[in-house]
Order: sequence, then structure tokens, then C-alpha cells
Amino acid sequence: MKKYTILLLGSGGRESALAWKLAQSPKLEHLYIAPGNGGTMQYGTNVDLSPLDFGAIKDFVVANAVNMVVVGNEDPLVAGIYDYFAADAALRDVPVVGPSRAGAQLEGSKDFAKEFMNRHGIPTAAHLSVDEATVEKGFEFLESQKPPYVLKADGLAAGKGVLIIPELDEAKSQLQAMLGGMFGASSSRVVIEQFLSGIECSVFVLTDGDSYKILPVAKDYKRIGEGDTGPNTGGMGAVSPVSFADGEFMRKVEERIIKPTIGGLRQEGITYRGFIFLGLINVGGDPYVIEYNVRMGDPETEVVMLRIGSDLLDLLEGVVTGTLADRELVVDSRYATTVMVVSAGYPGSYAKGKVITGTEAVEGSILFHAGTRRGADGELLTSGGRVIAVSSYGDSKEDALRKSYANIEKIDFEGKTFRRDIGFDLK
Ligand code: AMP
Ligand code: GLY
Repeated sequence: MKKYTILLLGSGGRESALAWKLAQSPKLEHLYIAPGNGGTMQYGTNVDLSPLDFGAIKDFVVANAVNMVVVGNEDPLVAGIYDYFAADAALRDVPVVGPSRAGAQLEGSKDFAKEFMNRHGIPTAAHLSVDEATVEKGFEFLESQKPPYVLKADGLAAGKGVLIIPELDEAKSQLQAMLGGMFGASSSRVVIEQFLSGIECSVFVLTDGDSYKILPVAKDYKRIGEGDTGPNTGGMGAVSPVSFADGEFMRKVEERIIKPTIGGLRQEGITYRGFIFLGLINVGGDPYVIEYNVRMGDPETEVVMLRIGSDLLDLLEGVVTGTLADRELVVDSRYATTVMVVSAGYPGSYAKGKVITGTEAVEGSILFHAGTRRGADGELLTSGGRVIAVSSYGDSKEDALRKSYANIEKIDFEGKTFRRDIGFDLK
């Protein structure tokens, strides 16, 4: 059996969940996490490297005989880490799980993603992309739409680049503000979209560019406030499975979205070996793509990994060797939930460096550290907005949530905040 020394890039709850799952594999020789967080050292060795410093990553990979790189977050993919490895004689034989730079444009440019979907007949909201020279066309398109109005920065904007605006005049002025640099260069082009109304879910696909596996479906809760109110966050919790994503819905997703996405990438000669995240909306029983991401979701990974019964590393080996069709994906039939514990003030400004207590008392849940770090004496400190995800299995959604909430009571730090209604809108 071939063994793998893996370098996992990232530092959030998603990477903690990937590390937890990879660490269970008999094919794992050693796991390095760069930069990791205050919890990831349970599963391997934290390495103080930036995921965007490709030169330093190269030196580390060569010096430590790393033979697989798993990319957790989108930035290195959009910056072309796949191509960097493929073009370097010393790195060429080290596979990177993730798309090429061209494939990463599915997330890196919303305009590219919309045009790709239109070329391949993939259902998505009607749109028009504009820049400063074509802003008048943008006003006309806005006038042709019903409220509310959807404006999206074309480029990466750390999840903040989408505005949903009730009034036409306000939409026009916000369009001008975006083009004028509201989100820096990422909004020098803006995608204006038709507003779609429905409930959302996250579908994850693992592909070797040819065959694919559909991972367990999840739903995340993005707003800070209960009842889905207040500003968007990176995600306050997630559940899997998702009651409305039944067999019939998923057949539509597979036929109308997954097959044409993978077929379209192949047809356009775009190398894609990794995760595809479909942000979907259910409009009267029909799935539409709200967005593509080229990585796993956070906090969805903190439930999806619980529901993968087979060896994730075996699946990733299938991805990088083009033999995914021969690998088995076993789905655990139990429910999984995660509740994110965050710092007061998040997603606005918040304090860091607060001492976290009680994690050792947690029983019957799995803690996935996100914004944590170890202090000089090994004490656990907050270091981010999203601090710790508390994930649980259950025979029902309610059973799993009960465990997550019971364990959250044991964890404490100044400013501890969480939503008490994760899963509220699902059966
Ligand atoms: P995105 O960053 O593209 O995922 O957008 C952030 C959120 O805005 C999504 O999760 C949706 O809730 C919402 N959204 C984006 N596009 C649309 C749309 N065309 N219609 C309705 N809601 C949307
Ligand atoms: N939870 C949504 C995301 O990861 O983008």
C-alpha cells in the first residue's frame, strides 16, 4: 500500500475537519498542516507557512518528502498553485488536490462562472456583467428586473462581495460604488443577477476530471442572527443531510448541473482534480446554481466529513491518479450537525486572545478548532471570529443538535456567541 505524507493548506474549521478525517486513514504516513490552528496539532504537525507563499511551500515539500498537497482554501488555487507545481521539475510528481488556475476561475471570477454555465446550459439566474464603460447597460438591466436587486463583485471578496438591495435607485448607486472600488479591484467588474427565491443547500462533488462522487449534501447558516437575520458571516452552523435534497432533487442536480459541469470542464480542456462546491437554490423543486466554489465549504466540511464512512485519503488517491471510478464512497446514514462558536462582534470587529476553557470536558461531540491558537504555556486562546465548531452525530437532526448544544455549554471564553436555531428551517 502506498503511503502519503500530506501537506494540508489552511487554518480554519474546514481544515480541522479534513485533518481529522485524513488522520484516520491507514494510507497516511504523516500530516502537516500549514499554518493550522490551536487544534490541528492533534492530527499532525503545524507548519508556520503561508498557503500563498509558493516558494516556501516548495522548499518544505522537497525537504520533507511531501507526496500530496491538499488545498483547503480558495486563494492558493485562484493564485495558481496547481500550475506552479505542474511547471516545476522538483514538484511535478507531487499531486495537488484542487483545480488548475483555469478551473479555479469558477470561483475566482463570477463572470467566468456565469458564462461557463451559459455555454453548458446549466441552470442559473439571468445576469449581465458590467464595468465602468458599460454602466448604462447595467442600469437598463436593473430596470428590467424585479426587486430585490443582486450585485456581485466579479473577483474574490472574502465572501463579502454580494449585495442584495430592495430599491432600484439604491441598486444603481451601489453599482456605481462597487465599480468605483468598494471591494477594490475585485469589483471593477460587477455581475448583476436576477433574484431567485428559494431555500439553499451545498452540494460537494469530488472529481478526477472524468468520473465523480457526490458527497453528502449539507446546508449552512450564513447570517449571524437567529431566524437568518443580520449580516452574513462565514457560516454559523450546518446540518447534513438536507430534507428537501431528496432523490428526485439530487437526480436533477446530477443531470442538469454536475454532469454538464464536469463535461464542460473537459470539453474546454480545463484540468480539474479536486472538490467542486455547488451553492444551489431550490426554486419550486428545480435546482439553480447560485455560485461555484472550488474547495469544500466551511462549516459544511465539519458535517460532511462525519458522514463519509470510507477512507477520504483513498478517494483523494483516486482523484490524483485518475482512478476515482474504482474507489468506494460509503455514506454514513446518521445525521450530523455543527454549531459554530464565535467571538462577540463577529462578523464585525471582535477581540482576540481570550482564554478558552472547558474543551477537555466535551463528550459525545467532535471539536473542530477554527480561530484558536496556543499561547506560550500551551493554553488555548481565541484568534479569530469563528472560534470552534462543535460537531455531533445523531439518529435525528434534533438528537445531533442536542449533543452539540449540550457541549457548547461546557466551553467558555469571554464573548462566546452562537446561534441556538441551527437547522430551524428543515424537517
Ligand atoms: P454568493 O457569495 O454568491 O454565495 O452569495 C451570497 C448569498 O447571496 C447567497 O448565499 C444567497 O443567499 C444570496 N444570493 C446570491 N445570488 C442570489 C440570487 N441570484 N438570488 C437570490 N439570492 C442570491
Ligand atoms: N459556507 C459557505 C462557504 O464555505 O463558502
